[in-house]
Amino acid sequence: MSASASPDGVDRAPGRIAVRCRGLVKHYGNVRAVDGIDLEIARGECLGLLGPNGAGKTTTVEILEGLTPPTAGEVEVLGMRWGDGHDAALRERIGVALQETQLSEYLTVLETVRLFRSFYQRGRTVAEVIGLMALEEKQDARVGNLSGGQKQRLALACALVGAPDLLFLDEPTTGLDPQARLSIWDVVERFAQGGGTTILTTHYMEEAAKLCDRVAIIDRGVIIAEGTPAALVASLGADRIVEFEADEGSESTLEPQELLALPGVGGHHRKGSTHVLSAKHLPTVLPALLALLERRGVRLATMTTHEPTLEDVFVQRTGRALRDD
Ligand SMILES: Nc1ncnc2c1ncn2[C@@H]1O[C@H](COP(=O)(O)OP(=O)(O)OP(=O)(O)O)[C@@H](O)[C@H]1O
Ligand SMILES: [Mg+2]
Repeated sequence: MSASASPDGVDRAPGRIAVRCRGLVKHYGNVRAVDGIDLEIARGECLGLLGPNGAGKTTTVEILEGLTPPTAGEVEVLGMRWGDGHDAALRERIGVALQETQLSEYLTVLETVRLFRSFYQRGRTVAEVIGLMALEEKQDARVGNLSGGQKQRLALACALVGAPDLLFLDEPTTGLDPQARLSIWDVVERFAQGGGTTILTTHYMEEAAKLCDRVAIIDRGVIIAEGTPAALVASLGADRIVEFEADEGSESTLEPQELLALPGVGGHHRKGSTHVLSAKHLPTVLPALLALLERRGVRLATMTTHEPTLEDVFVQRTGRALRDD
């Protein structure tokens, strides 16, 4: 760690920054897709943009990738700026897997990876990335006949074949089953171990917590929280999160202040009709909470507790859930 390393252990000294953007704005008509984003990603760091549908994640990464011009703001990637005459050199050094990769359905896996390899002067061999992504058995299959997970692995193979320094992954595991997700995570982790820089978007908090050194939680085009996954979760100041819902009509007398005043409760907010309590000490909170509900004649419909997660950070700051499901 150098003298300039920050508390999260990331070295942001000049020359150590892979991607920097300042005051990034993108408006589509009156839609403020990105509304003033500042980011700095150090070389070797994995940064996650975590946020719900429509938060502006794809728009942000597409601007960083040089695919969408911003309405306003500055972008610097690997010490260069898009449109400054170095675009081809920059493209050589980045790998991109889009949220919706439109690969030709009629090409085989092998032909597809060969095509992407031809875009780069230097890179890995086609056989190497096919092996890396465990696609050997499917190398002669047409893209149109691949499963969702195999298509995602192929998209990642295409992003990695130029041996990039910087990898952009937009929702790399959305819609995949847990096993396919793990195999993608494994490749991303190995890329990081090799010193690569990654920017990924996700709306899976587990994915952000597992892969990312740092997470920027984005909502409605702005960053609402940023830090290491552990620091973000610690900011809740809770050992456990308690969620409960009262039977319809039985909670009219329950005041938020009363819940906040319970011993061991560090915070309260609503998520729709669900009450969410941050519990500093669950064995203190639960009996006190149950006694209060009893006194108020509140009948419980559901009550659960869980370890605090990035989802709770999002809910605490927005009053909404990260995911619809
Ligand atoms: N080309 C476009 N024209 C008009 N509006 C757009 C365009 N692209 C994105 N938007 C709008 O900008 C906002 C942000 O979209 P974006 O795709 O960046 O969100 P996201 O965070 O990637 O969402 P998701 O999780 O669904 O992928 C949305 O309201 C979207 O409808
Ligand atoms: Mg998106």
